[in-house]
Amino acid sequence: MHQTPQPWVPAESRTRVAEISERHLGEGRTMAEVVAGIESLVSASDRLHNEEAFNLNPASNVLNPRAAALLASGAGPRTSLGYAGAKYEMGLEHIEQVEVVTAELAARLFNASFAEVRVPSGAMANLYAFMATSRPGQTIIASPETIGGHVTHHAAGAAGLYGLTTVDAPVDGDAYSYDLDALAHLAREVRPSLITMGGSLNLFEHPVAKVREIADEVGARLLFDAAHVCGMIAGKQWANPLDEGAHLMSMSTYKSLGGPSHGLLLSNDDQLSESIDAIAFPGMTANFDAGAVAALGVTLADWITCGEGYAAEMRDWRTNCPIAASNPSRAGLASPIPTSSPCSPAPSAEGLQGRGSSKPPGSSPRASVCPHPRCPVSRTASGWALPRSSVAV
Ligand SMILES: Cc1ncc(COP(=O)(O)O)c(C=O)c1O
Repeated sequence: MHQTPQPWVPAESRTRVAEISERHLGEGRTMAEVVAGIESLVSASDRLHNEEAFNLNPASNVLNPRAAALLASGAGPRTSLGYAGAKYEMGLEHIEQVEVVTAELAARLFNASFAEVRVPSGAMANLYAFMATSRPGQTIIASPETIGGHVTHHAAGAAGLYGLTTVDAPVDGDAYSYDLDALAHLAREVRPSLITMGGSLNLFEHPVAKVREIADEVGARLLFDAAHVCGMIAGKQWANPLDEGAHLMSMSTYKSLGGPSHGLLLSNDDQLSESIDAIAFPGMTANFDAGAVAALGVTLADWITCGEGYAAEMRDWRTNCPIAASNPSRAGLASPIPTSSPCSPAPSAEGLQGRGSSKPPGSSPRASVCPHPRCPVSRTASGWALPRSSVAV
């Protein structure tokens, strides 16, 4: 049997799917050829992202090769049910140590008393947070799309699928965050079980402490979604929302954190921590990907060792880049360039179109290359531009 064309997907996708199926799985293809094809596609993707292009997608990054090796290790598919020291299966005396070490590193890095690492993604971390704080039928307040609110907080995402009603938070356009007076008014009116903050676009720090006061007044919890800004928080360039009063902080670990494709949920609230622990297991996962948890451990150790300098560089690039500073949205640069994992070497200056490293940050905006030593942007006849090869397709 074959998959049938899916009428609900866009027409161009149906065409592309048919073309891919024909090319890789068409008449006469052996399984050996299929496997070789998969390997070759992944190699080509690695080359594109690691060698040929400078990936400016803020939701993408470069994984420390030592973490990448752990992702491909034998730990991933091992079953691992239950608490360390009280596992259900045999042979987990090594993996359970990795689980404990990674959770402890996450707690240290983000100043939390509890870190849940058995979370497969940022979206799932948000779902766990919704389940721990709210019952189906309750109302939450979340960032609207206009300031980068993520679908997981809304009707089509985890919140809606779990049965919550989401009301858009009122926005202060200048702050690219919440209008606090209007939020307080709305919270008194709708009595939310949860207020969420953070999103996919973050220009300035959010007023977490003030929103916590509003949440307290109406008996709501506060979740900060740090999927995109967790690197800035880990590197101490932005205040830690947990220190500012958020009950929970969720994140993806592959974006600015530069780790594996995984999730993380943190808290300093004992009651919520206990609920989340039960939601993670036995609630929403039986086994977890121990390879991803090991890779996350390496990533977190990198941040603890040298994350502050790395995050400072992300911040400075954004301030100094002539394109990002003058017109970030037009340049398609919504967030800092991820250059490498915090501790691995960055691309050499020579690798970037032969630019010299002599231009100090902050030099004349009329210069023909971006003053940031690692930014590939240069001035062309038609204005500031990225070298063709630097735009990942
Ligand atoms: C703000 C925000 N929250 C949650 C998510 C979901 O994260 P994940 O892709 O890890 O499921 C994303 C992006 O994908 C996001 O931008």
